[in-house]
Amino acid sequence: MKQFVSVRDVHDIDALVQKALAYKANPFSDKTLGLNKRIGCLFLNPSMRTRLSTQIAAQNLGMEAIVFNVGSEGWALEFEEEAIMSGTTVEHVKDAAPVFGKYFDILAIRTFPSLKNREDDYSELYIKQFIKYAGIPVVSLESSTLHPLQSLTDIITITETFKEQRRPKIVLSWAPHVKPLPQCVANSFSQWINAWGKADFVITHPEDYELNPEFTQGAQITHNQNEALKDADFVYVKNWSTYNDYGKIYESDPKWMLTNKKLELTNQAKVMHCLPVRRNVELSDEILDGPNSIVTLEASNRVWAAQAVLAEILSPHPLKG
Ligand code: CP
Repeated sequence: MKQFVSVRDVHDIDALVQKALAYKANPFSDKTLGLNKRIGCLFLNPSMRTRLSTQIAAQNLGMEAIVFNVGSEGWALEFEEEAIMSGTTVEHVKDAAPVFGKYFDILAIRTFPSLKNREDDYSELYIKQFIKYAGIPVVSLESSTLHPLQSLTDIITITETFKEQRRPKIVLSWAPHVKPLPQCVANSFSQWINAWGKADFVITHPEDYELNPEFTQGAQITHNQNEALKDADFVYVKNWSTYNDYGKIYESDPKWMLTNKKLELTNQAKVMHCLPVRRNVELSDEILDGPNSIVTLEASNRVWAAQAVLAEILSPHPLKG
């Protein structure tokens, strides 16, 4: 694996999931794979789970992880080609990324969208510029439109949890929020579940919250949440802002928040959320504190997803060369 920025970088999702689960069973089985190697984790935006799980994953492989909060501690970076840098940016990515490429063996980056200009955000300029100029493998820690480490984690968690000999029904359900959030997690979850192809996949959201069809194509999409929830085995709860009239929040109707009453429609579904979650806005206390919530398991699996991906990049014998 030469980079990890979307599901397209993965040849065999199930093989990668099994690799992650093998690390979960035996975290130090490859404890020298990353010896004398270094990963730079650059954060242009905040994080808790992604930052810590990636550091732990690297450490399990014997690799040193250095975290740099570029957004708050570094020079303001310029990403536009041929920019006349007379404004607020101090250093061009064209100059900074090759330096990271000399310091590190793998570069991992978190960069959120502006939610102001859809074309700019969906061009994924920031992560593409790092790929172009760093000269080393790049791992997405969440980019403008996708969160692949989260989605790999989610499929690991579903695989680990669902033991029946049939296809699970998975529902991605929009949830209310107080401010516009990126579409990354929902895009990425849709992209991975569709590529995985081992589930009946339904997306439910209010009118006007359609996601980019590039990611949702293959899923059944409905505005009727109750209908969607019927017989679901997993409900993945997530807010996202509008895609068509980009980056807006039209409504935060509390009726979209999942409750125990709604859960009765499901097949005793497990409830997932990538976290952080706003309690009693996105998800009710009764769900988060109840027996159906697997959000902590899901977050803990972030380590094994990151470890499998880093190991694939480091390995002389990857799943696919
Ligand atoms: N799910 C997730 O990416 O969490 P953090 O933002 O805390 O990294």
